[in-house]
Amino acid sequence: MTTPAERAAFLRAEIERHNHAYYVLDAPTIPDAEYDKLFRELQELEAAHPELATPDSPTQRVGGAPLPAFRQVAHAVPMLSLNNAFTAEEAEAFDRRCREALGVDDVDYACEPKFDGLAITLRYEHGLFVLGATRGDGFTGEDVTQNLRTVRNIPLRLTGSDVPAQLEVRGEVLMPRREFEKLNERQRAAGEKEFVNPRNAAAGSLRQLDPKITAQRPLRFFAYGVADASVFHPALTLHSALMDRLASWGIPVAAERAVVRGAAGLLAYYEKIAAARRTLSYDIDGVVYKVNRLADQEKLGYVSRAPRFAIAHKFPAEEATTTVLAIEVQVGRTGALTPVARLAPVFVGGVTVTNATLHNEDEVRRKDVRVGDTVIVRRAGDVIPEVVAVVPEKRRPGSAEFRLPARCPVCGSAVEKPEDEAIARCTGGLYCPAQRKQALMHFASRRALDIEGLGEKLVDQLVDAGLVETAADLYRLDLATLAGLERMGEKSARNLLAAIEKSKQTTLARFIYALGIRNVGEATAKDLARHFGSLEALLAADEAALQAVPEVGPVVASSIVRFFAEPHNREVIAALRAAGVSWEEGTPAVPSRAPLAGKTFVLTGTLPTLTREEAKALIEAAGGKVAGSVSKKTDYVVAGAEAGAKLAKAQELGIAILDENGLRRLIAS
Ligand code: IVH
Repeated sequence: MTTPAERAAFLRAEIERHNHAYYVLDAPTIPDAEYDKLFRELQELEAAHPELATPDSPTQRVGGAPLPAFRQVAHAVPMLSLNNAFTAEEAEAFDRRCREALGVDDVDYACEPKFDGLAITLRYEHGLFVLGATRGDGFTGEDVTQNLRTVRNIPLRLTGSDVPAQLEVRGEVLMPRREFEKLNERQRAAGEKEFVNPRNAAAGSLRQLDPKITAQRPLRFFAYGVADASVFHPALTLHSALMDRLASWGIPVAAERAVVRGAAGLLAYYEKIAAARRTLSYDIDGVVYKVNRLADQEKLGYVSRAPRFAIAHKFPAEEATTTVLAIEVQVGRTGALTPVARLAPVFVGGVTVTNATLHNEDEVRRKDVRVGDTVIVRRAGDVIPEVVAVVPEKRRPGSAEFRLPARCPVCGSAVEKPEDEAIARCTGGLYCPAQRKQALMHFASRRALDIEGLGEKLVDQLVDAGLVETAADLYRLDLATLAGLERMGEKSARNLLAAIEKSKQTTLARFIYALGIRNVGEATAKDLARHFGSLEALLAADEAALQAVPEVGPVVASSIVRFFAEPHNREVIAALRAAGVSWEEGTPAVPSRAPLAGKTFVLTGTLPTLTREEAKALIEAAGGKVAGSVSKKTDYVVAGAEAGAKLAKAQELGIAILDENGLRRLIAS
């Protein structure tokens, strides 16, 4: 029979084996649920037999009791820094210095990514992890052993052969980019402060006094060396072999290590890693070159606080600070409003940046970016520069919170922002110059008014030359004007004119679709045409009446109402009809559940918002009939201001009397 002690030892070994496969080798060996089962069994076993709990048990990774403060740790071997090279010439000069000092023609270098995390040191005694500390000032750091135990890919016990009695591993703790993004999503959802970048997130997580919090933070460790390589003398002579040895004991090292020869080798490695930078799961800020022979390293030694045998070749910084000169609002082709920060020019990611996107209003609010603020700007690869965060200490007094304008900065139409959407949009779709080209292309497209030959190039020309502003202007174009355009002969001009002319005869569904109302696609346009039968009825419909159309929900209804509420759009629609765009008016389809089916209405007086025509269309669309005079057959009289004889008659006959609101309520019921 297995004793609890044997079972616990077995479970520990199993769990750590799976941990290593998952976190170090990136190759999971069992499903999460099974891993969790093993883990729980071990936890229960240790709870029942406290004497079995060991410091290298994987259960220690979930974090123990909070500390009052971190203990100071003196580093037996100081944690130094590296000199930097920023250019190819500086990297070549490093190689030259090494060759000259060693008196050789060629030097082999071990190359590694430069991890953009926090330097730490891990002490192992007889293979057991006993102490972990931060770099601090290089001579004294802080004891963060408890927290480091929770970092899943740090081995709590080294495995494999020839594990030395004493070993101090040096490396960096960092947070993978994807995990960083997920953490920030969680922070946002919980209403907590977000982290600026993975490095800060890793630093904040490592310096938590409550290790339970650290345990929930997805930290990773990579080793880049040892405190004292002489303990391996004479078995190991190369830094690269030393790293392989660390890996053999279960210590995570970068997969992107390489040994190269000479300056050309260094620069080729730099280029290769720079190109692969985005594909790594974690941030790096350059590469590190190290003379590979340990004996040569010793010969080269140190100058002040940095080794002569190694150098960091840095990538151009992806983050920099600058000030916000203004926040402008741009309107995109689809009417989306995007706040953009105008910045004092700053060199970042290898170029000078003067603008950075702020994405949308919510984002500006969340980051609370204000004019005059000092901000951190990021430009990673070819990505559009963005404002990452404000430096709050540098905010000047009297600055005001950013607000998106209520009117489109380009055309003055109302701006809409549905409650559960992040993007605010201009509602002047048919009219707004920013949306002009897109609106025209859509209007002329095959499933809309189908104007053959009116493609993107032509729309560009027409708009850029100021010949066309809205779709209605298309119907004013003449042969001479068109024939005068670039790449446009008289024949094509005639063809285009004919196509424009032909488009005048259309259907209501196509016309509705052609307007380019947000959320109204071809199918919805057809539903609307069928339901309302006429444009007047559609124009008069409020949200409730629109939602009576099957498939039309609150979002679509609201888009439609806002679109037609914009006077600019109505003007363009009127101009289109005046230009001769027409269709056969259908009779509205009366759905069986039509709210006014079988009811007869009489209209009298002036209604507050609806014209007589619109009210009639609305009633008919809801299945009702409109009669001219009041009789016993009348079900409702809809009365507005200055209603006269008809109202009196209705009162006399005891017929129900409604105002406009009453009518709308009835339709919506
Ligand atoms: S070797 C004597 N290798 O960069 C110092 N350092 O700027 C030997 N770093 O404090 C350091 N990646 O924390 C080395 N592959 C790498 C590294 C690396 C990141 C950090 C390290 C050091 C800092 C110096």
